[in-house]
Amino acid sequence: MKLIKVPTSKDSYNIVITNTFDYLHKYLIELGIKDKKVCIITDDNVCDLYLEKIIEILSVITDKVSYLVIPHGENNKNLDTISSIYNKLINDNIDRDSYLIALGGGVTGDMVGYASATYMRGNHFIQIPTTLLSQVDSSIGGKTGVDFNGYKNIIGAFHQPKLVYINTNTLLTLPKKEVNAGMGEIIKHGLIASKEYYNFIRDNKLKINNLDEEIMEELIYESCLIKSNVVSQDEKEKGIRATLNFGHTIGHAVERLLDFQLLHGECVALGMVSASYLSYMLNQVSLEELEDIKQCIGDFNLPIRINTLDEIKIYNELFYDKKTKNNILNMILLNGIGVCEIRNDIDKEKIVAAIKYIL
Ligand SMILES: NC(=O)c1ccc[n+]([C@@H]2O[C@H](COP(=O)([O-])OP(=O)(O)OC[C@H]3O[C@@H](n4cnc5c(N)ncnc54)[C@H](O)[C@@H]3O)[C@@H](O)[C@H]2O)c1
Ligand SMILES: [Zn+2]
Repeated sequence: MKLIKVPTSKDSYNIVITNTFDYLHKYLIELGIKDKKVCIITDDNVCDLYLEKIIEILSVITDKVSYLVIPHGENNKNLDTISSIYNKLINDNIDRDSYLIALGGGVTGDMVGYASATYMRGNHFIQIPTTLLSQVDSSIGGKTGVDFNGYKNIIGAFHQPKLVYINTNTLLTLPKKEVNAGMGEIIKHGLIASKEYYNFIRDNKLKINNLDEEIMEELIYESCLIKSNVVSQDEKEKGIRATLNFGHTIGHAVERLLDFQLLHGECVALGMVSASYLSYMLNQVSLEELEDIKQCIGDFNLPIRINTLDEIKIYNELFYDKKTKNNILNMILLNGIGVCEIRNDIDKEKIVAAIKYIL
């Protein structure tokens, strides 16, 4: 078992990384949940897998446990689902002292976090992430929200969880494609923050692909450490947090143009190849490093090329990103593997060439 304490502006919370739910009881008691009202919210895929176990653990701590099952998927990440959560909370007399538990992937975590941020001006919430992406990315950092009118995560709030409890064995039931998509964000963490961690990922590809217990615990721990370190330096995304967008500027454009047919992590993989090539053109990454990055991304069955789009379409789409302000493109570039920088002075010509590289 591994533990990370994440400081926040008001408080701090633990991220527990282990291969069982056996320690959940201990951490819930530590939070002071005894006899409190708790509402578990999960989706209709995850409920059959893990809900019963979580209810069983909670029922020893409090007899005021309820649950709600919401429909899975990004299409249901909207205010209608939030409304169904609010209704449930009102019906169950959930109050400001109560705890919501998000059991599931990033869609569930983002929505439960948002409901918790806004219901009665905020109560407590706990993340039990069950996808690789949610374990290393969305459950950490307090960004919560929903999509609205086709705009992703356009409605939201910053609201920090009280606990993130990761059971790595939940990945055994996750479709392989979703595991690979999570690897996109994990490789990103290595590329932007630690060459040593990047090498660890590359050198353990077989064990990772087989979900080896020991390696997965180490992998997820190191990734959570990088993400939590960045977000606790910049809780509200005013500076360094933007480095987590490495691969995302072009990745998001591809994601939107393909109408979300590729998974987010797959689009980030394409974006990372393009941004690495841009770094290579600027002599910040060697040819050897560029080839190594492509190989590593490919080793996890993530795409390094896409042939159904054209470079100008993708370039124009970059300006529709909600993070592009005043038509200035912020590109996250590498300065060798493990070091990154934010640049807003790159010529159109070079950016177009970098996009062309993945087509
Ligand atoms: N808040 C943040 O900082 C942040 C960061 C990155 C991504 N996100 C958000 O995260 C969301 C994506 O999260 P995701 O990739 O976890 O998607 P998801 O929540 O849709 O989960 C993917 C699929 O896996 C299923 N599932 C979940 N756990 C499972 C398990 N253990 N076994 C079998 N099936 C399981 C789900 O039902 C779903 O069908 C997006 O909405 C994105 O905007 C948020
Ligand atoms: Zn991402």
